[in-house]
Amino acid sequence: MRAVVVEQPGGPDALIVVRRAVPEAGPGEVVVAVEAVGVNPVDCGNRADPSWAGVEAPYAVGYEFAGRTVGTGEEVWGLLPVQGTRWAALAERVVVPAGLVAPRPPGLDAVTAAALPLAGCTALQTLDRMALTEGAWLLVHGATGGVGHLLVQLARRRGLRVAAASRPDDRARLEALGVDLWLDRADPDPARAASRALGHELDAVVDLVGGQLESSLPHVRVDGHAATIVDLSGDLDRAIDRNLDLHGVLVRAGRDRLDALASEVAAGLRPTVVATYPLEQTAEAHRRLEAGGVGGKLVITP
Ligand SMILES: NC(=O)c1ccc[n+]([C@@H]2O[C@H](COP(=O)([O-])OP(=O)(O)OC[C@H]3O[C@@H](n4cnc5c(N)ncnc54)[C@H](OP(=O)(O)O)[C@@H]3O)[C@@H](O)[C@H]2O)c1
Repeated sequence: MRAVVVEQPGGPDALIVVRRAVPEAGPGEVVVAVEAVGVNPVDCGNRADPSWAGVEAPYAVGYEFAGRTVGTGEEVWGLLPVQGTRWAALAERVVVPAGLVAPRPPGLDAVTAAALPLAGCTALQTLDRMALTEGAWLLVHGATGGVGHLLVQLARRRGLRVAAASRPDDRARLEALGVDLWLDRADPDPARAASRALGHELDAVVDLVGGQLESSLPHVRVDGHAATIVDLSGDLDRAIDRNLDLHGVLVRAGRDRLDALASEVAAGLRPTVVATYPLEQTAEAHRRLEAGGVGGKLVITP
């Protein structure tokens, strides 16, 4: 079968298409004929340096996928752990522990389905951790991205009110997703700008960019919430001074989490798939993601 393998970690050209033996399922595993694989920043990070993932070359990246179970033909989607997975899904077939795949939402095509498990589960798990009540004001840093555009949709469906900063070009798209208060990300302190525009402090902030918490925390109310999926950096003492719940979130895989995501899809959650690439152009997809400004998800179709 064709597979994308990293033999020498490095830039996008480290992603090489090779022929590998078709993998066989061991006990408790299934083989999935892969139809589509979503691209995420963690793919690029692990491609460049697999030490955080805890694997050694050669290895494959690509952690969220959609396909059909070999044998039964069931349409499934899945999410592989972003750490400890050596042979991820960028191949014609992938062997997966049975507990990490689930029936994919009815009526969802493979490309759309493959764009959801990693970013969607991250968005869902982040909101679940913060447990905000209806009407709460949430500032989202990185709302235009793969995780962000899904988190905004989920937050609005929970009755939260969302503030988000982006480039002016992305304003209309964010407002169409449900952002209530748009801010220009050229502002050096979007959290301060948000609380000034609202006339009160924020109930919560979520950092999907990195490095945004330190400046945001002074604008979150006492007993409020803050979450990051990227880093905990800077002087975070304000989280103590304001008695904030501070969450560092790493996405968890598993059928129950996929089923929770499927319920959100049934309620209308949809990713924006910006482009698809054949397996041979995986390096191109990584280059595009790393260049920024994608505005949604990229998907590989083996
Ligand atoms: N902890 C976890 O489990 C987990 C899970 C998924 C992702 N992540 C991490 O979370 C981050 C986001 O992932 P993603 O898939 O959403 O990546 P992405 O699709 O690249 O999205 C990042 C978004 O942030 C925007 N952005 C960059 N700087 C900004 C700023 N100063 N203000 C407002 N927006 C800004 C980018 O816009 P432009 O492209 O226009 O600059 C882009 O839309 C990555 O670092 C990823 O590795 C962590």
